[in-house]
Amino acid sequence: MSITGIKGMNDILPGEVETWQFLEEQARRIFGLYGFCEIRVPVVEKTELFQRSIGETTDIVEKEMYTFRDKSDNSLTLRPEGTAPVIRAFIQNKLHTRDPIAKLFYMGPMFRYERPQKGRYRQFHQIGAEVIGVEDPKIDAQILTMLTHYFANVGIADVELQINSLGCPECRPGYRQALTGFLEKRLDALCDDCRRRYRTNPLRVVDCKVPGCKEATGGAPSVLDHLCGSCRGHFAGVQEHLREVGTAFTINERMVRGLDYYTKTTFEMVTSSLGSQNAVAAGGRYDGLIKDLGGPPLPGIGFAMGVERLVLMKGDTRIEPSSPELFLAALGEEATRYTFGLMSRLQRRGLHVEMDYEGKSLKAQLRRADKLMAKRVLIIGEEELARRQGQLRTMETSTQESIPLDNIEDFLMKDAALNR
Ligand code: HAM
Repeated sequence: MSITGIKGMNDILPGEVETWQFLEEQARRIFGLYGFCEIRVPVVEKTELFQRSIGETTDIVEKEMYTFRDKSDNSLTLRPEGTAPVIRAFIQNKLHTRDPIAKLFYMGPMFRYERPQKGRYRQFHQIGAEVIGVEDPKIDAQILTMLTHYFANVGIADVELQINSLGCPECRPGYRQALTGFLEKRLDALCDDCRRRYRTNPLRVVDCKVPGCKEATGGAPSVLDHLCGSCRGHFAGVQEHLREVGTAFTINERMVRGLDYYTKTTFEMVTSSLGSQNAVAAGGRYDGLIKDLGGPPLPGIGFAMGVERLVLMKGDTRIEPSSPELFLAALGEEATRYTFGLMSRLQRRGLHVEMDYEGKSLKAQLRRADKLMAKRVLIIGEEELARRQGQLRTMETSTQESIPLDNIEDFLMKDAALNR
């Protein structure tokens, strides 16, 4: 029996990977315009990092982490998200001593042991960005504007930016109390998970997708009514700056994020086209996290987009793999040796060139060139080689012309440039 991959962990095949590359390239380009630099962090971290940052009572830490012991009995975890590792790297490498403001982005695989379904996988990919060191609501508006800019640029239109504020350690306890009081009277209507969350993490109950819980929490107190003066001012500032730059948004006061580190602004880019996995990007402010993880008391804000969900939303607008500019068809041993050398020289000069490696018939080689959608084919047999002539075939028109092999490299480079 052949060995298969792991459930919920997908291969990204040629034909699909081009869309991934496009989404990644656009992120590099657009995030660059806003001053972000790439950071790469390991996929495995000490388990404690995620417990302390994401929160002990979150679904991610309670149920979804790939945690294992290495041969030295250390508890390690495959990263379920990127923020905690980036902050760990920021603190450990003292990046704040280089620049008081850090704007970092990252892309790569994340791992959560969730029940796989469309748009939800066990290995999935995020493209994320974090800004450390700015408290002003202008940066919240910048981050959200960059996110909106990215979506418009990659041609994903069916998304709505929803924002909320979750308050801070000053005002959240008051809200938590008001919410617990409300939920206490409705415990019987809640699902098993929410009855447990009611004690450990009551804010999550408001965000539960189970219909019974949604109904029971319909009239729950709003977090926005419990914000302290500073959080209220910050949230008003974010909205004002978003309006100033024309970034559209709606307020969703029931949005509670599944990670505990958030303070003040939180947001999601939601779509109606992916069923229950409706968040294509999400994030928020985490003003206490850096200090909690042993770093300087700096504020932070960021987001992550789910790349699989972006790819699903791009749908059938497939980006074709690039086709060779030239295919070299050789007949006979000597001509094959000649074309093999020619191919390598042309590739080194930047041309996309292919050839047949196995001495097939001319007909088979032309079929291969056709399948690869090569624009031109240079045919060289023993006779052509002796006469220092090749046959240059244009695939689209099936026309052929004889060309001299002297200066052939320069000729082919110019010819390809003209055909681009
Ligand atoms: P998150 O909401 O857990 O936030 O994930 C962000 C995005 O990753 C989601 O909106 C979704 O698109 C995608 N995603 C999450 N889980 C899966 C999955 N199992 N399969 C496919 N896609 C998934 C975070 O991870 C935070 N670190 C975001 C952040 C950055 N906050 C501040 N900075």
